[in-house]
Amino acid sequence: MSAGKYLVYATIIVTYVLIVWGAYLTAGNWGGACGNPSANAVSSDWPYCNGGLSIPSPFHTASYGSFVEYMHRFLSVVTTVVLVATLIVVGRMKPRPVAVFRVLLLSFLMLLVQIGLGNVVVNSSLNPIVTAIHLANATALFAVMIVAGVLMYQSEKRTASG
Ligand code: HEM
Repeated sequence: MSAGKYLVYATIIVTYVLIVWGAYLTAGNWGGACGNPSANAVSSDWPYCNGGLSIPSPFHTASYGSFVEYMHRFLSVVTTVVLVATLIVVGRMKPRPVAVFRVLLLSFLMLLVQIGLGNVVVNSSLNPIVTAIHLANATALFAVMIVAGVLMYQSEKRTASG
């Protein structure tokens, strides 16, 4: 199995974990746990967590919610790094699986939109409509990544059978 295929699958798995973690964040009612939102892009809550970038302790009840919110953002950074690495590796494959590469590019654009929406979710004090759009884009993003995975699987199978 090629590194590209491993990476496409890793992107799907890390995104899945991020989505489930987002559901945990919502279910625990911790969406506003990082501080005060503001009308500006920069607030104590975004991109900071309670005004700083240090990791809140998961071992104290008072900071557990902030930890869950912080980890949601951290996982979105991890997902971005894995997806960019996947794009680079798949883009350099010879022959390049063009369809997979295009679908990965689309998912990268959707990921950027998702991160922007995360900012709006926080700075709108978890407005229900914005939060629903955040969920809708996350679901669509995951679907697009699955398509990339299936296309990658088929492309590798074709290459292997000559
Ligand atoms: C980049 C990929 C991301 C994905 C796939 C993602 C996905 C999700 C999902 C599935 C939920 C649960 C929604 C629900 O159950 O209704 C959620 C909640 C949330 N996300 Fe994200 N998210 C991402 C990035 C971010 C970023 C960068 C932020 C920035 C702060 C953010 C902020 C939030 C907040 C505050 C909630 C909780 C909303 C609430 O409590 O009502 N997300 N996210």
